[in-house]
Amino acid sequence: MIESPALPDRSVVPGVWSRYTDLVVDRGEGSWLVTVDGERYLDYSSGIGVTNTGHAHPRVVAAVQAQAAKLLHGQQNIVYHEPGLRLYERLRHVLPGDGWQAFLANSGAEAVEAAVKLARAATGRPAIVAFRGGFHGRSAQTMALTTSRVSIRGAFEPLPGSVYHTAYPYCYRASGGPHDPSACTCDWEAQLELLFAQVVSPSKVAAIVVEPVLGEGGYVVPPAGFLPRLREIATRHRILLVADEVQTGFGRTGELFAVRHVGVVPDIMIVAKGIASGLPLGGILARRELMDAWAPGAHGGTYGGNAVACAAANATLDVIEDERLVDNARERGRQLLDGLRAVRGRFPRLGDVRGLGLMVALEFVDPDAPDARTPDPDLAHRVIAEALRRHVIVLSAGTWGQVVRLIPPLVTTSDEIDHALEVLTEAMAAAGA
Ligand SMILES: Cc1ncc(COP(=O)(O)O)c(C=O)c1O
Repeated sequence: MIESPALPDRSVVPGVWSRYTDLVVDRGEGSWLVTVDGERYLDYSSGIGVTNTGHAHPRVVAAVQAQAAKLLHGQQNIVYHEPGLRLYERLRHVLPGDGWQAFLANSGAEAVEAAVKLARAATGRPAIVAFRGGFHGRSAQTMALTTSRVSIRGAFEPLPGSVYHTAYPYCYRASGGPHDPSACTCDWEAQLELLFAQVVSPSKVAAIVVEPVLGEGGYVVPPAGFLPRLREIATRHRILLVADEVQTGFGRTGELFAVRHVGVVPDIMIVAKGIASGLPLGGILARRELMDAWAPGAHGGTYGGNAVACAAANATLDVIEDERLVDNARERGRQLLDGLRAVRGRFPRLGDVRGLGLMVALEFVDPDAPDARTPDPDLAHRVIAEALRRHVIVLSAGTWGQVVRLIPPLVTTSDEIDHALEVLTEAMAAAGA
């Protein structure tokens, strides 16, 4: 038998990839990652919300293998290909009403870039409004939209201009005090009106870009009235409402898209991550008449809508539908949230437990500080480390890194959730929560 050469040292990977673990993985199976040493880890990061169908779902793998054997790349300016045509057609029907069309790119950031370019081309207006705490990517334009934490953008000024930020309804951190989103007293609407009165005229705003649930900013679930009211305000000013569903999309929140929870239809929807179970793919959806505002050649890219990625996306959509993964996300999400809320009273430093579907967060604070909501990122990091010691992978989020976020794959089982609950309870106790 020929032995494979030893793996290079991990230091070959640049330090700019800030790390959650030092695991070297060999393979993934459903909710689990298996290291080269054969250790099994429950992956409640899902590769940051990507592997919604679980790792290496057999139907996705089969579709990728079959497509790879036929055509790896059929560039979109040059040819059409079967998986692309099928995906473009399917994406026309994921939002209510007729006339939708997709544009396919490679990543979330690229899709956000596309949304901004389309909004500016379609409206002839320069400005974009985004929300404080939002995350939209790492390219120059998307960094300009992003304010989830200063480390994302701080070293890269100057960033593209005419981007303005306003307040997101973060009920736990509201200046008037923490409250339940069902009785929201956040002043986000007044802040937006102030922005329009003081900083940028709404007649100059092409788009309002919003995450239906704040992702990197801390898994903040807004009150149910937020998006419908934002829709009204955008419509009144003829501003395009752009929903960034990169992290919330494809079943993550217990609906195929999070905007569906409140019946809001955006003008442009941005998708990526969960769309292709791990292959790089992103895109936008817009109505045909809006999409036509782009003259041929106004946008494009070498790899967008890659044939293998499209085949993976078609199989992913089949699996989501056939295995009723959206229902499972809702049910398992409820189980996880209820389980965490049941133990909350045991942990005085666990300030908030919140979530929607399988997008669940624990926010850690220092209750002895003058403001009892003072963020405690060290505690959040200890909880993540203690969970990892027990072979459960979870991630951080939030402006200060004070939030632990749980992103199980949508295929996760009731037993796996129970196991994660047991481990997280132990991890919080061991970390001194
Ligand atoms: C809401 C949101 N938008 C955009 C992006 C950027 O996506 P990508 O990392 O694929 O560029 C992310 C990534 O985390 C995201 O969560």
